[in-house]
Amino acid sequence: MGQCGITSSKTVLVFLNLIFWVEDEVDSSIHKVYDEYNGTNTDAPSRAIDYVQRQLHCCGIHNYSDWRTTRWFKESRNNSVPVSCCRPAVVNCTGSLARPGDLYPEGCEALVVKKLKEIMMYVIWAALTFASIQMLGMLCACVVLCRRGQDPAYELLVSGGTYA
Ligand SMILES: *[C@@H]1O[C@H](CO)[C@@H](O)[C@H](O)[C@H]1NC(C)=O
Ligand SMILES: *[C@@H]1O[C@H](CO)[C@@H](O)[C@H](O)[C@H]1NC(C)=O
Ligand SMILES: *[C@@H]1O[C@H](CO)[C@@H](O)[C@H](O)[C@H]1NC(C)=O
Ligand SMILES: *[C@@H]1O[C@H](CO)[C@@H](O)[C@H](O)[C@H]1NC(C)=O
Repeated sequence: MGQCGITSSKTVLVFLNLIFWVEDEVDSSIHKVYDEYNGTNTDAPSRAIDYVQRQLHCCGIHNYSDWRTTRWFKESRNNSVPVSCCRPAVVNCTGSLARPGDLYPEGCEALVVKKLKEIMMYVIWAALTFASIQMLGMLCACVVLCRRGQDPAYELLVSGGTYA
């Protein structure tokens, strides 16, 4: 039982470390991914960014101004961010920075980190629940084994009811 307690607290520590690691990792890789954006919907970074921006209702890393520094923005030379930044309620949204009101005001990084943390909290709770159930089971087994020594009728029950 002590073994089990140690194992589950180790698990929690590992996951807490993982949460901080996720924050750093998202921060460094999100810049890379935004720099690889290439409006064509065929490469993985572009699809991922469009998907995240639509799903999480965000634009850019911290805000839509981050698009200004990307290669895609400089190459397209029309002062526009991808249309995945557009609020769905806006008709004819072109992603032009001249109309910032059409775009999602929030950046994606904070939202992605928040989402990942939520998922990890679920995993931690599941692990803790599993560990508790396991400990409860061991407790029951212990109670049964302790009683077994004192109760001859029980001995009969577990040995299959035959007198040897
Ligand atoms: C996107 O990728 C295609 C094919 O790989 C390439 O022809 C195009 O120039 C790229 N566009 C940008 C903006 O990098
Ligand atoms: C976007 O964020 C930068 C700092 O990261 C800030 O200087 C800028 O004013 C922000 N732009 C908008 C429109 O909020
Ligand atoms: C700006 O250029 C990009 C890439 O060439 C294109 O996908 C986008 O539709 C253009 N936006 C506007 C408003 O012309
Ligand atoms: C959207 O575009 C259509 C045709 O391109 C135009 O008739 C309409 O007025 C536009 N709507 C807005 C809100 O700009």
